[in-house]
Amino acid sequence: MRNYVKISNTIKKFDKIISVQGDKSISIRWALMASQAIGRSKAYNLLNSEDVESTLKALKKCGVKVFKKKNYCEIVGDGLNSFNFKNNTTIDAGNSGTLARLIMGLLSNYNKSIKIKGDSSLSQRDFSRIIKPLNTFGVKIKSKNSKLPATLQGTNYLRPIYFEEKKGSAQVKSCIMLASLNVPGKTKIKCVNSRDHTERLFKYLKIPIKIKKISKKHQLIEVEGKKQYNSFNYNIPGDISSAAFFIVLTSLLKNSKIIIKNVNINKSRTGVIDILKKMNANIIIKNNKLINNEPVGDICVKSSKSLIAVNCKSEINSRAIDEFPLIFLACAKAKGVSSFKKIGELRHKESDRLKVCSNFLRNIGVKIIESKDSLKIYGNPNLKIEKKLNIKNFMKDHRIFMMSCIAALTLGGKWVINDKNSVKTSFPNFILILKKIGAEII
Ligand code: S3P
Repeated sequence: MRNYVKISNTIKKFDKIISVQGDKSISIRWALMASQAIGRSKAYNLLNSEDVESTLKALKKCGVKVFKKKNYCEIVGDGLNSFNFKNNTTIDAGNSGTLARLIMGLLSNYNKSIKIKGDSSLSQRDFSRIIKPLNTFGVKIKSKNSKLPATLQGTNYLRPIYFEEKKGSAQVKSCIMLASLNVPGKTKIKCVNSRDHTERLFKYLKIPIKIKKISKKHQLIEVEGKKQYNSFNYNIPGDISSAAFFIVLTSLLKNSKIIIKNVNINKSRTGVIDILKKMNANIIIKNNKLINNEPVGDICVKSSKSLIAVNCKSEINSRAIDEFPLIFLACAKAKGVSSFKKIGELRHKESDRLKVCSNFLRNIGVKIIESKDSLKIYGNPNLKIEKKLNIKNFMKDHRIFMMSCIAALTLGGKWVINDKNSVKTSFPNFILILKKIGAEII
């Protein structure tokens, strides 16, 4: 099947109610945590995507029983320290940084050699950020330039550690937290705020965890290891990172409305809503509830009369980290100059998103100033595209593909957007939903 889409018409106004698939971060965490529980755990609305599929396959390689049923996924765990794999096993994390980094935490207490590899995008990403803390626990890791493939040799004698996580990376924090489950005594992490799904799951499962706010930006997390926990059933909420495509689409159009049902609205993930609201977007959240210790609600968006530029405070960065490509697109059509600082982490995602987005914006005629870790966007509310565009060379980055589709559907022009299959990573029915609300996509 061909691996590109063609978009030659902007989308007409709509008034729709949709839902998006399960949250990727929470789906992966549910599977990893269920594998360490005692008994049968079930997840409903587990994201059915390649990253989650890689997670389930990795767990099977570690000897865990996984059953995918029509309406749920079941994992049979045998408690902490119950992985059962042969020396020199290989795990393929595919495109998923979250899987690769988090499972390395869980593998740290097995005195066996296990190789973790990934696709070409994941093999270019930095693993020194988790190799350092894992080494401190007593884990040995061999890799070239701290990249995948990496071979990990754990130990039955993990030491409790104190680690300072300075990047605001939830993957690093969660890798350490998962390793801490098998550590005798207290593991302490001083970390810059980032998504807190792992902390919420630990609390939900009554794993001994203490979280102290030590400054506006920092927290101290303490986990007491070696405590078994029981299996659990879980409802995965909709992914706000997927909902964001429809929030921006609606905000950029005229006379349109959308309600996105049952989305995870955890404060550590809603930066995109706060930034867009500052830009004059019309977004409200209704039906707030707490499900399995995660906040869920319906996101209601109406077209904005006129978007205005934003001077984005860097404290918000980690709360919107995956949505910046979309936020940049909104800024391209906003009145005034938008500015983003300390966004260097975008260079360490599935692609160098700062570079890819800067090239994209230049390509559609938007003036930008890019530095190592900042971006200025000179917006134009009348931005219209009349030329032909062929979007490629973005490392098959799913979020760049989807952002490009939103640009094509709102700005005009004749677009060919390559690497359509990348949506399978996080949001397989993205194009189907777009078509349902009226997009013409070939
Ligand atoms: C994720 C954390 C973020 C995010 C990624 C998913 C997670 O990465 O970009 O898509 O599930 O923990 P970092 O931890 O590298 O910031």
